[in-house]
Amino acid sequence: MSESSIKKHFRAGIITASDKGSAGEREDLSGPAIRDMIEANGYEVISLKVLPDEEERLYEEMVRLADEENVDVIFTTGGTGLSPRDHTPEATLRAATKNVPGIAEAIRAYSLSITPRAMLSRAVSVMRNQTLIINLPGSPKAVKESLEYILPTLAHGIEIMKGEAGECARK
Ligand code: MTE
Repeated sequence: MSESSIKKHFRAGIITASDKGSAGEREDLSGPAIRDMIEANGYEVISLKVLPDEEERLYEEMVRLADEENVDVIFTTGGTGLSPRDHTPEATLRAATKNVPGIAEAIRAYSLSITPRAMLSRAVSVMRNQTLIINLPGSPKAVKESLEYILPTLAHGIEIMKGEAGECARK
C-alpha cells in the first residue's frame, strides 16, 4: 500500500495563534483550512481554537489537547515568525517530551522551493508523549502548501508513535 493511500482515523486538535483572530478582528481562515484538509485525509478534528499570541495560553491548550483529549496530533498555525508577538515555537518546545525535527525541516525545505520567505518561519515539530505537535505558518496558503507535503507521510509516523506500525521500512 502506498503511503498516500493510507487512510486512518486519527484524532487531531487545531490551534490558531492570532491576536486579531482571537479578538474577533479578523476571520480565522487558516484553522478551517487545516480542518478541511485533514478531515479529507481521515482525521477527526476534536477541537479548533483561536487563541491570542501568548505563550502561556498556547502552552496550556497544547497540554490540554495532549493530556486530556489524548489527540494523536496537534496542528498550530501562526506565530512562527520573527515579530515580537510570535511565541508559538516557544510554547511548543515547553510542551515537548521529544524533538521531532524532520517534519519542520521537511516543511521548510519544500516551502523554500515555493518562496524564500519560508526561511522566516521558526516552526518546530515535537512529541508530547504520544501526541505529535506540528507548527504551521500563519497564512491559509502556507498551511495548504505545508500540509500537502507532509500529510502523505504523517500517517505512518503517527502509527509508529502509537506502536501500531511494526517497522519503518519503505515499501
Ligand atoms: N511557507 C509556505 N509554504 N508558504 C508561505 O507563503 N510564508 C512565510 C513563512 N512560511 C510562507 C511560508 C512567511 S512570509 C513568514 S513571515 C513565515 O512563514 C512565518 O509566518 P507566521 O508568523 O504567520 O507563522
